[in-house]
This record gives sequence, C-alpha cells and structure tokens, in this order.
Amino acid sequence: MTAPARTLLIGSRGQLGSDLRRVWDGELVSFAHDELDVCDRDQTHAVIANTAPQLVINTAAYHRVDDCEENGGRAFEVNALGAKNVADAAREAAAAVIFISTDYVFPGDKGSPYTETDTPMPLNVYGASKLAGEHLVRLSNPRHYIVRSSSLFGVAGASGKGGNFVETMLRQAKAGEPLRVVDDQVSTPTLTYDLAGKLQELAATGRYGLYHVTNSRLHAGANVENLAAMPAQLVNPQVGVDDVLYVNEISCRLGRNHLQFLAFEAIPNHRGHEA
Ligand SMILES: NC(=O)c1ccc[n+]([C@@H]2O[C@H](COP(=O)([O-])OP(=O)(O)OC[C@H]3O[C@@H](n4cnc5c(N)ncnc54)[C@H](OP(=O)(O)O)[C@@H]3O)[C@@H](O)[C@H]2O)c1
Repeated sequence: MTAPARTLLIGSRGQLGSDLRRVWDGELVSFAHDELDVCDRDQTHAVIANTAPQLVINTAAYHRVDDCEENGGRAFEVNALGAKNVADAAREAAAAVIFISTDYVFPGDKGSPYTETDTPMPLNVYGASKLAGEHLVRLSNPRHYIVRSSSLFGVAGASGKGGNFVETMLRQAKAGEPLRVVDDQVSTPTLTYDLAGKLQELAATGRYGLYHVTNSRLHAGANVENLAAMPAQLVNPQVGVDDVLYVNEISCRLGRNHLQFLAFEAIPNHRGHEA
C-alpha cells in the first residue's frame, strides 16, 4: 500500500490537526471549524465531494468532559452524528476515513492496559458520544481507521479546553500558584506530533480497523512536576477528588496490540524514551 494521494483534514487548527499539517507527507487539504462544520451534513458532503480525497481525517470533537455532561445533545451532535456525516461523505467519495476516539470509552478499572478487544463501557457522556461515533463510522464506511488515543498535548494547545494539561500546569507554576493535581488518575499523555506521524504510517497500510495509539509511559497526575521539572513544593496533589467523573480512571491506559500486529514500532513516551 502507498500513502493516499490526497487527504482532507477536518479540525485543522486543533492540537492534532496542527501537527498533522506539520508532519503530513503528501497533499493535505485542510479545513478549520469555520470552514467546515461536521454537524452541517450538506456542507460536509459538498466539501468532501468537491475535494475528492482518498482519505478524510476527522479530528473534530466536542471534548470538554464536564461540558459534555451539561450539554449531552451537543456532544452527540458533534462526536456521533458529525462523525457519521464525515464517514458517509467519505464513503460516497470512495475515500477512507480516520476517526479519532478516546480512552474514555473504557471505565478505567481494569488494572492493566485496555486492548482493542476489550468491551467498552463509558462512564460519562463524552465517552458515550465518542463510542457512538465509533459505531456510526464503522457502520457507515467499511474503509475506516478508528484510532483511540489518550490525553493529547501539542504545541497548538487544546482550544476547546483553554490549553492542555501541560500548559495549564506550566502557567500556574510560572504564576507561583500551588498546583492542584489529582493523584488518583493514571493516563498516557500523548504528543500530537507523534500521533500524527503514526496516523500517516497507518493510512499507508490499508489495514482498516480499530487501533489504540498512545505514547508509551503511564503518567500519574501528581507526577506532573517531573514532566515540567517543576519545584516539588509547588505541587499539591489532591487525592480523592469528589468529582464522580474521574474517580474510576486508574489504569485508563490503552494497550496497542493491533499496531503490534502490523509490526509497527511503538511511539516513545512523551520525553522520547520507550517505557
Ligand atoms: N484532547 C485530548 O486529550 C484527547 C484525548 C483522546 C482523544 N482525543 C480526540 O482527538 C481528537 C483531536 O483532539 P484535539 O486535542 O486535537 O482537540 P482540539 O485541539 O480541540 O481540536 C479539535 C478541532 O476540531 C474543531 N471542531 C470542533 N467542533 C467542530 C465541528 N463541529 N466541525 C468541525 N470542526 C470542529 C475545533 O475547532 P474550534 O476550536 O474552533 O471549535 C478544533 O480546531 C478529537 O476527536 C478528540 O476527541 C482528544
């Protein structure tokens, strides 16, 4: 298989979208939110038909977890129906589609990495809406790559979140504020630059299906001072936060068995070393 000749990118100003634009090798036609809204079915079909890509990468999402709880309709509109609009339009244009999903489709209590064959069971609206998106993409377009990742961070920052976790910690530390960080969550921070590179490799395989793609090291929230070389006295771990959305997230790390079947090299942890 060779890389797609022309790829259409949706959500191009986001964290992952920005790094896809940096790393993509091949023609990439990019659309930001104000140029293509995945919730607008007619517009999505028209743009994809006019661009005639071989591959569509959909990075658009409504992903502030707390907002999704408040506004579940919007979460399903963007993350599920929007994903279907893109997958339908890609199918009609004879294009493959990449849909980015999340470790939030799992409850987080397994105690070891979730693999692609584990049964999802989201605990919040965000995870449920992304899982619905996965199902709709799978139903709509047989030529799909559904890629679950975790705790994305990149130079562009997550516009929807007012910056990513690393940026927030750095900003607060620079301002001399004590860092309040949950200590009962484990995640796998994943550089969007690394994920973007892996998406390019995956897109060249033609091996459609479900993949877990993350960097390689577990990260406990309270260890953020190691990430940013912060003075430890600035860090004030908060154990047992009372927000029920988060308390079951321990070990919410994704195993990457399907990538290994393709004999892909793992992408390293966020500091450049395989765990
Ligand atoms: N961030 C994470 O920790 C994380 C973890 C796992 C998986 N993911 C998934 O990875 C993907 C990329 O995340 P990211 O961190 O790069 O997010 P991001 O920085 O917020 O980028 C998402 C982009 O999508 C755009 N967008 C939002 N709604 C849209 C719509 N209705 N139509 C078209 N574009 C729309 C946003 O534009 P505006 O900002 O202008 O609205 C933004 O540019 C998402 O699918 C997300 O669910 C994220």
